Amino acid sequence: MKGVILAGGLGSRLYPLTKITNKHLLPVYDKPMIHYPVQCLINAGIDDILIVTGGKHAGDFLELLGNGQSFGLKDISYTYQEGEGGIADALRLAEHFAEGELICVVLGDNLIEKNIVRAAERFRQQGDGAKILLKEVPDPERFGVAEIQDGKIVRIVEKPKKPVSRYAVTGIYFYDATVFDFIRTLKPSERGELEITDVNNMYLEKGKLTFDVLDGWWTDAGTFPSLLRAANLVAETGANKLDG
Ligand code: G1P
Repeated sequence: MKGVILAGGLGSRLYPLTKITNKHLLPVYDKPMIHYPVQCLINAGIDDILIVTGGKHAGDFLELLGNGQSFGLKDISYTYQEGEGGIADALRLAEHFAEGELICVVLGDNLIEKNIVRAAERFRQQGDGAKILLKEVPDPERFGVAEIQDGKIVRIVEKPKKPVSRYAVTGIYFYDATVFDFIRTLKPSERGELEITDVNNMYLEKGKLTFDVLDGWWTDAGTFPSLLRAANLVAETGANKLDG
């Protein structure tokens, strides 16, 4: 399985911090944000990694991560997203890299306390389709939200005003290569982006979407409160733990 980290976007919710750098290069406690998703993938045994970035500061990723040696990697791949088309638009650029293999996609501003080793193993066994990771949160309206009935997801709604559950769809996704066919059929949402939630709902309609509930804390870091929360969680408990 290959890994894809999506680290583009304007980071407008963190302006003016993001006026002179990319969101994913900002500090989260003692490391740049992008270090956390890279380590998350490596801990799951995924060492063939593509970083999708964009904007004016894309070159800084190369300076920071280089060839991945400091993570024990042999190499890291990079690609560049023109414009701000959203998560699914950024993922489109990974088709060439994926070469038909299964992929694990991690949003560059998502951090976890533990690891995705078991979820990755279950997805390898699943062999095709998609798997998403859910987490119960107090503020589901900020995220994609999964409606679950009889242990099955029946629908995912992006940032619902009235969430039907507390299960947020985290920014860690497992896909087979049909994800790129689905992305080709997407239309921009009201916020003008190709939405990853639409992709997940396409897998759901085909009966090809499974889920796990993530163990340990999970947070994004794309707003001022969540960036602060992420730093505090890392300082208090550490991130990307291999045990448990
Ligand atoms: C994105 C996804 C959303 C998901 C979230 C996780 O939201 O659209 O479904 O729950 O990441 O961090 P965004 O950060 O683009 O608002």
